[in-house]
Amino acid sequence: MESKKYKVAVIGGDGIGPEVCDAAKRVMQRAAELDGHIAFEFTDFPWGCTWYKENGRMMPEDGLEILKGFDAILLGAVGRPDVPDHVSLHGLLIAVRQGFDQYVNLRPVKLLKGAPCPLKDVKREDVDMIFVRENSEGEYAGKGVLEEDRAEQVGVFTRKGCERIIRYAFELAVKEGRRKVTSVSKGNALNYSMVFWDRIFKEVAAEYPQIEADGLLVDAASMFMVRDPGRFDVVVCSNLFGDILTDLGAAIAGGMGMSAGANLNPEGHFPSMFEPVHGSAPDIMGQKKANPMATCWAASQMMDHFGRPDLGKKILDAIEAVLEEGVYLTPDLGGSAKTSDVTKAIIDHLEL
Ligand code: NAD
Ligand code: IPM
Ligand code: MN
Repeated sequence: MESKKYKVAVIGGDGIGPEVCDAAKRVMQRAAELDGHIAFEFTDFPWGCTWYKENGRMMPEDGLEILKGFDAILLGAVGRPDVPDHVSLHGLLIAVRQGFDQYVNLRPVKLLKGAPCPLKDVKREDVDMIFVRENSEGEYAGKGVLEEDRAEQVGVFTRKGCERIIRYAFELAVKEGRRKVTSVSKGNALNYSMVFWDRIFKEVAAEYPQIEADGLLVDAASMFMVRDPGRFDVVVCSNLFGDILTDLGAAIAGGMGMSAGANLNPEGHFPSMFEPVHGSAPDIMGQKKANPMATCWAASQMMDHFGRPDLGKKILDAIEAVLEEGVYLTPDLGGSAKTSDVTKAIIDHLEL
C-alpha cells in the first residue's frame, strides 16, 4: 500500500472542544504510527469565541481560503455563554459547512456494545441507523427578517439541494447493503417546503426499486425512534429535523459524548469537516470530564473519508472495546475516568 500524508486543520473552538480534539489527534497519530502507510500533519487554529472577543470575528476574513489548502478539518465545538450563539455558530461552524458546500451531514446512530441505552425492551442491533442530514440550505439558509415586532425565518429548499441529499441517501443504502431509506418530513403543516421535499423524495425513490422507501412525519418519527428504533435504517431529512433527531439519536445510543458526524463535500471540491454532535458543554469545561469518544468516532469517519475504512473500523473497534471493558469511562457514562484516561485506553486497544 502506498503511504500518504494528509494535512488536517484542527479548530478546537470553545469549551470542551479543544480537550476532545486533543484526544482525537492523539488517537489518529498513534493509529497512523501503527499503520505505517498513512501520516497526518495537524495545524491548529485558535478560532472561536476567544478569538472573536479579540478580533470581532469568529475566524479571519480569509478563513475559508486558509482552510481550502487542507485535506480535512477536525472541529471541536463552538459556543460560549458570553457570545450570542447565532453570532458564534453562523460565524464559524455554519460558515464552513455552507462555504465549503458540505451538503451531507452523515451521523451514525449506532448503539455500540457496552454503551448505555435508556430504552426498554430494545435489542442492541435495533439501534443502528445512519442519518443523512441536509446540511447546506433548508431551515438554516439564514434568510429572513428580524424587526422589533416581527420576525420571519425563511426556509430555502431547492431542487438541486433536495435531490442531491436524497440521492446520496439511496446511494449510501446501495453501497452499504442497507434495506430501507426513510424520509422524515412534515408535509401536513409545512405546506410549501415539505410538500416539495416529499415530491422529490418520491421521484428519486422511484430510481431505486431495490431499496424500500418509507416516509414519516417528524413528530411520529421522534416517537418511533424511542418506541421502535429497529424500523429505521438510512434516514434522510432536512437540516433542522436532522439536528433535532440526531440529539435524540445520541440519547438512545449512549449519550452526547458518543455521537459523531461528518460534514461532507462528496465531490471533494472542498475539504470535509469532522466533529462530535455535541456542543461546547460549558458546564463541564476544564474539568477533565469530557467524553472524547464522539470526537474519536468523528476521526474514524475521517479515515473512511480518506479511503481507509479499515483504519476507521480499527478506531471504532477500539472505542467499542473500551466501552465493553467498562473500566475507563467518563462521568456521563457512569464512570470516574478523565478524558485523558479514556484516550489512553482507546490507544491501548489500538495497539492490541
Ligand atoms: P451541549 O451538547 O454542549 O451539552 C449538552 C449536555 O451534554 C451538557 O450537560 C454537557 O455537559 C453534555 N455533554 C456534551 N458533550 C459531552 C461530552 N463530550 N462528554 C460529556 N458530556 C457532554 O449542548 P448545549 O449545552 O445546548 O450547548 C452549549 C453550547 O454549545 C452552546 O453555545 C451551543 O450553541 C453550542 N453548540 C455547538 C455545537 C457545535 O459546535 N457543533 C453543537 C451544539 C451546541
Ligand atoms: C449541530 C449543532 C449546530 C446545528 C448548531 C450549533 C448550529 O447543534 O451540529 O448539531 O444546529 O447544526
Ligand atoms: Mn445539534
